[in-house]
Amino acid sequence: MTAITLTQKDDRSQVLSLIPSPDCALQGTIRVPGDKSISHRALMLGSIAEGETVIEGLLIGEDPQSTAHCFRAMGVEISPLNPDRVVVKGVGLSQLQEPTTVLDAGNSGTTMRLMLGLLAAQAGQFFTVTGDASLRSRPMSRVVKPLELMGAKIWGRQNASLAPLAVQGTPLKPTHYQSPIASAQVKSCVLLAGLLTPGETIVTEPALSRDHSERMLRAFGATLQVETDSNTVILTGPATLTGQTVVVPGDISSAAFWLVAGAIVPGSDLLIENVGVNPTRTGILEVLLEMGADITLEQERTVAGEPVADVRVRCAAGESIPLKACTISGEIIPRLIDEVPILAVAALFAQGTTHIRDAAELRVKESDRLAVIAQQLSKMGAIVTEYPDGLDITGGQPLHGAELDSYTDHRIAMSLAIAALRATGQTHIDRAEAASISYPNFVATLQHITAN
Ligand code: S3P
Repeated sequence: MTAITLTQKDDRSQVLSLIPSPDCALQGTIRVPGDKSISHRALMLGSIAEGETVIEGLLIGEDPQSTAHCFRAMGVEISPLNPDRVVVKGVGLSQLQEPTTVLDAGNSGTTMRLMLGLLAAQAGQFFTVTGDASLRSRPMSRVVKPLELMGAKIWGRQNASLAPLAVQGTPLKPTHYQSPIASAQVKSCVLLAGLLTPGETIVTEPALSRDHSERMLRAFGATLQVETDSNTVILTGPATLTGQTVVVPGDISSAAFWLVAGAIVPGSDLLIENVGVNPTRTGILEVLLEMGADITLEQERTVAGEPVADVRVRCAAGESIPLKACTISGEIIPRLIDEVPILAVAALFAQGTTHIRDAAELRVKESDRLAVIAQQLSKMGAIVTEYPDGLDITGGQPLHGAELDSYTDHRIAMSLAIAALRATGQTHIDRAEAASISYPNFVATLQHITAN
């Protein structure tokens, strides 16, 4: 049987140890926690809507906790976070209270970047926002710049490009922002700033990024037009949002770990229920299918405006290199941006060399994900070459257990755990507690599906 243990190293840090059994297939029917992007948006839109919002299926991870914490500090009543039901008593768009302390977004880029759009437009109120060491090193100019074009007053280190940031809320003017990057955080920040701004706030992006904000803003009553040919969203302000019931589907970015595990561990058969399959997020499914993975969608349905399905993944017994290499680049990148580390693991079990390009954005995520995944997988014997905007991964090399480190990045911690399932001998992953940013029960689910 595969041995999986989590040990407390010191106050903050945990080590995940794995010794896979050579014939351990993954079996079971599982659910993944609520979608992180949708969870943040439900808490935020609920906070600024009129009336009550009920959220079912919220992710109870550290990132949404950070969002809830910030909005509570601005006078919003949010019931204790619970995956069954969270009630947010909205204060309306312009009634966020000036907090008496610094707003702490923790590790969460989505909390900080989306919230900045709302804060910038709160006329007469002053806010300071910060985050953990990782977030304080991530670029904020990508949202500060468009907000300044709208008249926002923001100060911070290096020309307001790094947190901590200070914001003096002020009435904004609409803009048409041509974003140089396909980023849902940038798009959503500008749209949220546009909610209180009279006129048309327009965002055009170079490729389509996740559209959860557009869907949820519409459901809450905002006037929004989408021009799909030009990846343009037009929001007409000022808006009035009305509290809604939001049902959060399972996070495909969390399901991605099981999809790859089930596709690379011979003899596996996993059913992941209730996974969000919004087309702006399903790049991972398209790539795994192209690589030859046996993945099927069952019970496809729409829940509260988001497409959902149960996803089955299987790997034939005895297939030691079950996948084939592919090239991942261009417009699909924003649709699988958070899945590149786990796709790099999939590529280790593919015939040939997989090329990942146009993914320089990975360098400014919770860690430099291209550098960290290349380094860590190399320690296991993988052949990975790093490029400024991607990786080449040569499949079919035998992996051995190693001493690894998550660099406090949740998606790196979980990707390395999946790679360890196909390595010989013992792997230790330091700072594995990072997984609870987006997936608090990750280790328990891993133990469950490897138990037989
Ligand atoms: C997110 C957008 C993406 C993604 C992040 C969540 C969101 O970031 O990587 O995990 O919820 O809008 P970018 O907008 O920086 O690509």
